[in-house]
Amino acid sequence: MSRIVTMTLLTSTLLLASAYTKADRIHDMQTMAEAMGKIQMGFFYNNNDLVQEGSLTLSDTIRRVKPPLEEEEEKDPMTRFMNNKVRMSEKIVKKIDNKAAMIIQRFNEGDTHQALQSFSKITEQCMKCHTQLRDW
Ligand code: HEC
Repeated sequence: MSRIVTMTLLTSTLLLASAYTKADRIHDMQTMAEAMGKIQMGFFYNNNDLVQEGSLTLSDTIRRVKPPLEEEEEKDPMTRFMNNKVRMSEKIVKKIDNKAAMIIQRFNEGDTHQALQSFSKITEQCMKCHTQLRDW
């Protein structure tokens, strides 16, 4: 009996974990906007903890961001090629993650110029996705 309950719970947890909804995306977006604000505050107040915290949150969150399931599972190669959004978003996600790591490293070393440059690159990537995939 309890084994069945455990199995059922496990199955529903797995199902929940695999579906990335629009609400999840919006929530992650808000978390990232907050994290970007935190990083910026860290720059202005010269506070390394804020910069690290914001960058880690950003990095954790961007890794969760996914395209809608129907686009990820699109089998028709021509359709995939034409809308090309899955590949584009995966690239952007990777870039943002790399630049977040760069901010952590550079700010910690006192290289605020490079840290700030990585921050601007991230903002560019956020906006690139927004202008091209606004309606997900
Ligand atoms: C993979 C594409 C993609 C990337 C990368 C991306 N966004 Fe978004 N973002 C979206 C989409 C799509 C929406 C619209 C969500 C919706 O309404 O379904 C959105 C919406 C938002 C919103 C509005 C959320 C709301 O409350 O309606 C904010 C804020 C936001 N993004 C911040 C960011 C920040 C900050 C970054 C960069 C660190 C970023 N986004 C990177 C795709 C992206």
